[in-house]
Amino acid sequence: MKQKILITGSNGLLGQELVSIFTKDASFDVFGISKGENRISDFKKITYYNVDITDKSKVTKVLETVKPDFIIHGAAMTNVDLCEVEQKKCNAVNTEATSYFVDFCKKNTCHFIFISTDFIFDGKQGFYSETDKANPINYYGLSKLKAENYVQKNLVNFTILRTILVFGKPKKSTKSNIVLWIKGSLENNKKITIITDQYRMPTYSKSLAEACLLSVKKRTKGIFHISSNELLSIYEIALQIASVFKLNSDLILPITTQKLNQKAKRPKKTGFNLEKSITYLGFKPKSFKEELQLFKAEYFH
Ligand SMILES: NC(=O)c1ccc[n+]([C@@H]2O[C@H](COP(=O)([O-])OP(=O)(O)OC[C@H]3O[C@@H](n4cnc5c(N)ncnc54)[C@H](OP(=O)(O)O)[C@@H]3O)[C@@H](O)[C@H]2O)c1
Repeated sequence: MKQKILITGSNGLLGQELVSIFTKDASFDVFGISKGENRISDFKKITYYNVDITDKSKVTKVLETVKPDFIIHGAAMTNVDLCEVEQKKCNAVNTEATSYFVDFCKKNTCHFIFISTDFIFDGKQGFYSETDKANPINYYGLSKLKAENYVQKNLVNFTILRTILVFGKPKKSTKSNIVLWIKGSLENNKKITIITDQYRMPTYSKSLAEACLLSVKKRTKGIFHISSNELLSIYEIALQIASVFKLNSDLILPITTQKLNQKAKRPKKTGFNLEKSITYLGFKPKSFKEELQLFKAEYFH
């Protein structure tokens, strides 16, 4: 019998990749939830619900209709600066709404996969392991950590996949990401200021979706870190993008965090220790350059 998989945030950067990967596998029936109209081209292959996940009764109704075997919960308020300003809304979407899905899984046979973030860490240490102490320095990170804690407290059959700075090319999206923004700016001969003193391991949305597929197939339980395998400053990330897409790197101007003055604080140095994911999940991390080259080959050949 086919496994029923419900993808929340199916319209998003990760969600579209998940729909693509799971609809290609005949062992799954795929269902999606997002807030707006269905934006994915493979819409005929999934059963889609446009539901605001902060509406508990509507969420429960969908869950009771679908009765999923797996939920991949990627829907979230992902604008970090907006979360800092609209904390109540951020809490409702990222923390409270997560609990509605968890409560269903607690009462039913359903494996819950929660997509979380490096922003649960304060960024003082870098190369974080799954067991390192969380200490978020912005409201977005706090909202995701509270959701993680609720998952761990209430479920046995769960996987938490934490990831970093996701890039990819969603169809019909109004939201950009670091690679598309830098590539687009340089192509248009636009000067851009890029932070030199924050460090990340960016993640191709396809690699993250593959890690979700591994979690489903293996029903691996616990927390896992998913990203590329080199720690780079955002400035170095920008230079690599310019190099892979053969664009003018002279347009990339360095700036420090202090001068940029963003609304929400950002952890200085994140990055993951990926050993647990490699050993227990079978995840095969790549360098950012390799991921960029795959991305280029897929969408810009
Ligand atoms: N992007 C990153 O750099 C990054 C880094 C670390 C962790 N993560 C985590 O990875 C996950 C996926 O991120 P992403 O970049 O793919 O996000 P995204 O592109 O911003 O997509 C978010 C999705 O959530 C849906 N959504 C938001 N609020 C909703 C609501 N109230 N009700 C129903 N649906 C709602 C949106 O639906 P509509 O589009 O229809 O409005 C959208 O499909 C998130 O949980 C995020 O916290 C992302």
